[in-house]
Amino acid sequence: MILLTQQNDNRQVDLVPAIEELKREMNAVILAHYYQVDEVQDVADFIGDSLDLSRKAAETEADVIVFCGVHFMAETAKILSPHKQVLLPDLQAGCSLADSAPADEFEAFKHQYPDHLVVNYVNSSAAVKALTDYCVTSSNAVQVIQSLPEDQGIIFGPDKYLGDWVKRETGRDMILWEGSCEVHEMFSEQAILEMKQEHPDASVLVHPECPAPVRALGDVIGSTKRLLEAVRNGDPEGTYLVVTEPGIIHKMEEAAPNATFLMAPAEIAGSEEGSCTSCNTCPHMRRNTLEKLYLCMKNRTPEIHLDEEIIRKARIPIERMLKIG
Ligand code: 13P
Ligand code: SF4
Repeated sequence: MILLTQQNDNRQVDLVPAIEELKREMNAVILAHYYQVDEVQDVADFIGDSLDLSRKAAETEADVIVFCGVHFMAETAKILSPHKQVLLPDLQAGCSLADSAPADEFEAFKHQYPDHLVVNYVNSSAAVKALTDYCVTSSNAVQVIQSLPEDQGIIFGPDKYLGDWVKRETGRDMILWEGSCEVHEMFSEQAILEMKQEHPDASVLVHPECPAPVRALGDVIGSTKRLLEAVRNGDPEGTYLVVTEPGIIHKMEEAAPNATFLMAPAEIAGSEEGSCTSCNTCPHMRRNTLEKLYLCMKNRTPEIHLDEEIIRKARIPIERMLKIG
């Protein structure tokens, strides 16, 4: 039981049943990303990677979408379902990768390559999506790039590491925007090598937002959903070294309760100790708590609002992506 003491009358609220009741009253659906804290994942109607969450947001019949993820994800839900109310438990839940591409700077960059198509990772703001020809997620980036004509020049943003991975996978030459995710960029190659020595049978699961030397240590490289599938289809008693945000381990443990999951450590810049196992959590994803989820449903705020013209333009690259894969 997780209780919240209300400030106005000191009454205690049992959060899980209260959230369930609000969900029925509001005809709401709760969508959660795999990086959410365990108790938020446990009350969600659907948990997924960025691609599956976009699909769910486009298809849902609910009146209200409560998005337990970060701001760009809730924006994507609003773009795909503009007539629905979209709530985000904490409006400050941003993303360093999306923030690394301010729309005005990205527009100036795009104008340097007028003949190029613009492909952007969904981890970008709605304003940047409005400047984009195709969106991608880590699940379908390779597929989307492969669907474009071979002689077509491509700008890829905002993640330089995902872009580098896609370049290697497709053999396509792309111009990369210099953005990165503060969480995935921090994983320590040295610490992972040491863990591999200690656990030689461990399967190393790596998200493609990591830099190339870390990706090179991976047995499986892919989106959160792909990494979870690797566990579902892998040795149920095996050892897995997880090189992405550790929120995903909650579902991995459900999928393989007898397996062992090791969190890959992050590097502490300038530290003698070298690495840290709690520096790899996403501070933005973890802003959402069960308490904030309850309060945002009860008060119907914070809500995502977007300019109609931005919605119209940003919808085009997302729909193109959803059509391809
Ligand atoms: P996926 O869930 O699509 O792999 O994306 C991970 C991510 O960066 C979310 O912030
Ligand atoms: Fe953004 Fe990285 Fe956090 Fe994902 S893990 S929300 S890319 S900062």
